[in-house]
Amino acid sequence: MTARIIDGKAVAADIRQQVAAEVAAFQAQSGITPHLAAVLVGEDPASAVYVRNKQNACSKAGFKSTLHRLPAETTQDDLLKLVRELNADREVHGILVQLPLPKHIHEQAVLDTVTPLKDVDCFHAENVGLMVQGRPRFLPCTPHGVQQLLLASGTEVAGAHAVVLGRSEIVGKPMSMMLVQRGAAANATVTICHSRTRDLAQLVRQADIVIAAIGQPKFVTADMIKPGAVVIDVGINRVGEELVGDVDYEAVKEVASAITPVPGGVGPMTIAMLLKNTLTAARIQSGN
Ligand code: GUN
Repeated sequence: MTARIIDGKAVAADIRQQVAAEVAAFQAQSGITPHLAAVLVGEDPASAVYVRNKQNACSKAGFKSTLHRLPAETTQDDLLKLVRELNADREVHGILVQLPLPKHIHEQAVLDTVTPLKDVDCFHAENVGLMVQGRPRFLPCTPHGVQQLLLASGTEVAGAHAVVLGRSEIVGKPMSMMLVQRGAAANATVTICHSRTRDLAQLVRQADIVIAAIGQPKFVTADMIKPGAVVIDVGINRVGEELVGDVDYEAVKEVASAITPVPGGVGPMTIAMLLKNTLTAARIQSGN
């Protein structure tokens, strides 16, 4: 069997178009242009590209976006000061602090300072808590994007065994919680694997759905995949000049029934879901 390719670029384009229409309607009715403020600290080239892509997507969908670029030597206090200014700025609806931050800055302290109503990444404990309790204000962008791909590909998630590789705060942990909730693209039985998991390959072989988010190039090999499984690759690893996922794509696509490519799979979805959250943030703050 050769797997169906799940085209994240196309699914994301549809969602972005739908968000753009909602932004136009919201603006016509409220007179408010939803505004995302992005903060980029330092010179990490990959982060610079991600932030630029997010800003371009904002402009195309009718959002206002501003970029606050700070040098790598910025102190934590100065960064916190900027975040507090953005919190207080009534013209700003969403705040995105691009990660990773330079090593001398305590990431959690910065993320804790973003006011929950503008936390469009859904990293704040209040928003994570609401999501885990099944009454989300925002949904975390990458896991929400994965769910949209499962929906768009017609994958039966309810009752399926989903194995999530990775327990990061950005992807693995929230992803697992979202898959186990009641709702669409959910109601799964979830196993979370990580660096200390025993017999990891044996567990992955039992999966109907595999979500790889560990940041290790081509870690998931064809022998770990049950024939017909759906494979979602969240990894983006730079190997020389090439971008590769966490999945050995060429081999795994011969075993899986559906698979996401890297690039062009999950990546574009993260941006589309960020736009959705920014519109939600503008709606909440306008009392709409
Ligand atoms: N760095 C890698 N992924 C993300 C993300 O989704 N949001 C932010 N803010 N930084 C990231």
